[in-house]
Amino acid sequence: MIWLIWTWRGNDITGITFREIYKKGVNLLKNRNIECYKTDSLLMFEECFGLKFKDLIIKGDNVAPKDEVKHYLKMIDMRLNGFPVQYIIGHCEFMGMDLEVGEGVLIPRDDTEVLVRQTIKQIKKLGEKLKIVDLCSGSGAVAISMKSILGDSPEITALELSGLALNYLKRNVNKHNLDIKIMHEDIAKGYENFMDKSIDCIVCNPPYIPSEEIEYLNSDVKKEPHLALDGGCDGLCFYRIICDKWLSKLSEKGFAAVEIGRGQGRSVCDIFRKKGLENIKVYKDINNIERVVIAKYSK
Ligand SMILES: C[S@@+](CC[C@H](N)C(=O)[O-])C[C@H]1O[C@@H](n2cnc3c(N)ncnc32)[C@H](O)[C@@H]1O
Repeated sequence: MIWLIWTWRGNDITGITFREIYKKGVNLLKNRNIECYKTDSLLMFEECFGLKFKDLIIKGDNVAPKDEVKHYLKMIDMRLNGFPVQYIIGHCEFMGMDLEVGEGVLIPRDDTEVLVRQTIKQIKKLGEKLKIVDLCSGSGAVAISMKSILGDSPEITALELSGLALNYLKRNVNKHNLDIKIMHEDIAKGYENFMDKSIDCIVCNPPYIPSEEIEYLNSDVKKEPHLALDGGCDGLCFYRIICDKWLSKLSEKGFAAVEIGRGQGRSVCDIFRKKGLENIKVYKDINNIERVVIAKYSK
């Protein structure tokens, strides 16, 4: 397909202006029905040329450097081949923070902001010197945004199994200069490192897609790691692990906060209820979809 994009005035990209190459990128994505073609082409344009959209007003007629044009067209080509734009530019925004991402780590979703915001609300009710554990931490989106909002006081540990994701987690923690403990562990074993009743908040956005549904996901999502998506046969495997292995680690006042997939609210609440938790609430996202379950023992 490369030949298609390299064709510019008969294979010659010499003399192409910023405005022309920007429009070329938009049209290539639009013609292939890429949903967010405008945003995606702009993100790649900004990344590649270091220019914002508004800069086109002044610099639009300037000739774009040839090497950067080639690089931009390569990025467009990757997008046409189904790579998520965040992987192509190497970073994304989550709760106003810039996080590095790439192949091997889940791209944090806006939906997960509901988990962070509701968890922080609960934490603020509990006081200071708290211990928080972010399970299945991925890029560190949850742990990092919570730590940057809550400041020094809570001790936060981020646990992640994937070595590839762990690299991004470490880089993001360093990038934002935060004091977060990192554990390279399986959620099914990591609990052994904590004393009973020592954790005030377990927060987790686990893989929650039922195994059989993964092959039907759109091609962009399928470029993300299988390990980050597959929640076992019914998608609920990780909620059971949290209940079986981690709940005994919760302090008296402690709580668990988990993100859930569409339609999983009732089943996840049942899993917590069967373990004796009485105070269980479900929170919706801006699309009115149940997105977060917060569960405590006490009323
Ligand atoms: C849905 S992603 C969430 C990532 C991140 N918390 C976020 O919200 O963007 C789930 C994460 O769980 C990790 N994971 C999968 N199986 C795991 C396991 N057995 N133990 C620990 N982490 C696991 C995956 O590698 C992935 O990073």
